[in-house]
Amino acid sequence: MHAPTPPELDKPSFTAGSTAVWAGDCVELLRRMRPSSVDLVVTSPPYNIGKEYERPMSIVAYLDWCEVWIRELYRVVKPNGTFWLNLGYLELEGRAKAIPIPYLLWQRNPFYLIQEVVWQYGAGVSARTSYSPRNEKFLWYTKSPDTYTFNLDAVRDPDVKYPNQKKNGKLKCNPLGKNPGDVWYFPKVTSGENRSSKERTPHPAQFPIAVIDRIVKASSNTGDLVLDPFVGSGSTLEACLLNGRRGMGFEIKPEYVTVASQRLLGVQRRIEAEKGQLELALGV
Ligand SMILES: C[S@@+](CC[C@H](N)C(=O)[O-])C[C@H]1O[C@@H](n2cnc3c(N)ncnc32)[C@H](O)[C@@H]1O
Repeated sequence: MHAPTPPELDKPSFTAGSTAVWAGDCVELLRRMRPSSVDLVVTSPPYNIGKEYERPMSIVAYLDWCEVWIRELYRVVKPNGTFWLNLGYLELEGRAKAIPIPYLLWQRNPFYLIQEVVWQYGAGVSARTSYSPRNEKFLWYTKSPDTYTFNLDAVRDPDVKYPNQKKNGKLKCNPLGKNPGDVWYFPKVTSGENRSSKERTPHPAQFPIAVIDRIVKASSNTGDLVLDPFVGSGSTLEACLLNGRRGMGFEIKPEYVTVASQRLLGVQRRIEAEKGQLELALGV
């Protein structure tokens, strides 16, 4: 499967297997893309909380900016396409200590909301005046309320308490496992001496690949086009490589384009080596 190279965009900064990354501002790049061309968007934008890759903005300017790129995404997503958005919390002076950002965007987001999934990430900072924060939200949006991809069998959870329980002689539970539900436990990607996750790259806000793997498997099909307009270290595109999807990513910071290219070229080399070994073993 080839990397996507839409003619309306310039040459990508790099390609790795079925994925490609363009360096630049996602709003400018999105504006150049053809309408209704993307099957799935998975992304986590800056939260405007002072991270090193953020340009500080007032809350009003931040929400206006979010509306601009969300509307561009709506334009490029196919009529049966899907948009998964991970956003954190913001402080609203006098109103909220920590409000989920998607709540502030409710009136401005044209997509149809299917579900809010809670990602419980395990350890984190300890609070003194409230419960310690341990979750972020993933919002599952589609363009159509009823025509969208949901491959439940691809993501069933095999950890079933009574797998052999029967009713009228038939197994009660699907042999592939149960529906994983809307609260997902996946540990955060950690850094630091002796506690750094194996998948850690130098990017400070990396998704755990397991979360994105579930989303890509359930919300797209083999060969589909997946876009992450805030690609960072390339987690969404790694999930594309592992699952036979075509992936496009945009990233404004050249140093993260380099991080993503090293990561994705490494994953692609590993996939090709494993394929070579399998073919050798099978004598093909
Ligand atoms: C929260 S991080 C994404 C991390 C990513 N999910 C991962 O697993 O590595 C957001 C990324 O968006 C990039 N970014 C910020 N503004 C951008 C823009 N206007 N266009 C494209 N990328 C942008 C940042 O440099 C940062 O790498």
